[in-house]
Amino acid sequence: MSSKLSQIVSDLHEQVLYLQELGVETLEAKIPQFAYSAAPEKKVVASPTIEKYIPKTPIIAAINPKPIEVSKPNITRQSLLENSRLSHLPTLGNRPKQIPNLEKNESSTEIREMPKVKTEPILKAETLIEMPTILAILPESNETLADIQADIGDCKRCSLYEDRKNIAHSKGSLTAKLMFIGEAPGADEDEQGEPFVGRAGQLLTKIIEGMGYDRKDVFIGNINRCRPPGNRQPLPAEVVQCKPFLLREISVVRPQVVVVMGNTACQNLLGTKIGISKIRGEFQDYYGVKVMPTFHPAYLLRDPHKKREVWEDMKKVRDYLAKTN
Ligand code: URA
Repeated sequence: MSSKLSQIVSDLHEQVLYLQELGVETLEAKIPQFAYSAAPEKKVVASPTIEKYIPKTPIIAAINPKPIEVSKPNITRQSLLENSRLSHLPTLGNRPKQIPNLEKNESSTEIREMPKVKTEPILKAETLIEMPTILAILPESNETLADIQADIGDCKRCSLYEDRKNIAHSKGSLTAKLMFIGEAPGADEDEQGEPFVGRAGQLLTKIIEGMGYDRKDVFIGNINRCRPPGNRQPLPAEVVQCKPFLLREISVVRPQVVVVMGNTACQNLLGTKIGISKIRGEFQDYYGVKVMPTFHPAYLLRDPHKKREVWEDMKKVRDYLAKTN
């Protein structure tokens, strides 16, 4: 058996084991004929590789904005601003006016996600507006996770504290290359004060292990750290209080890839309204950190057929990390 073929067989074996682990019982696979025959080497593609990361349109739109005709009578400055908004990023209103001070003090709990925004005219003179140039890097941080948790303290910033048993702080390796973000704790997480320890968490552990990692080597957190009553989605007013702590943790850990699981995590990290079914499987950008949106493990428990898609997404993450490390 040629070494290429044995590599394919070994990859296939690994993937089947992973899918079995996840509980997939049947597979519909369209395997091209050449995979069976002695095909010319170049035709056998074992797994997709990511040659080049091309950010989604908003950043490209900022660099190559469509010229806007000044003469159109019905174009207002407001509509131009709305049309040119970088929809995957927080709105202009949320942007800080200066680089946040990451030193530990009371005001540091206010740190927002937009550390460096430089505004300069990059459109031609015939256009009306100035577009912001985004310096897409994470802010430096000299905090520790302990500093951040100390700031959170016995948090009463939103009403979720009223019913909580424990705050489920993020957990994992400080040097993790890979971070997973979910929505908010459920009953088990509330009980144990740790994210993803219930049934969805057990499935997440299998996914992580299927990718070849150990749970303790990644970093796991949620948009909100207190359990919403009845496991409802956290409200915007609750997210706004809690999310900044997670963003500070991202700046401390500086992972290479963040996997956002489900709509709440995806939409709140990326500042988009796009649904997870549409956006999943394609790398997005969060200040230079690759973000892979995928389905939430709790959704996979309800619809196991979606495990296949999650596995495809996780293979992209695994291959990216393998390539860059
Ligand atoms: N679902 C989440 O989003 N987070 C958890 O920690 C557990 C379940």
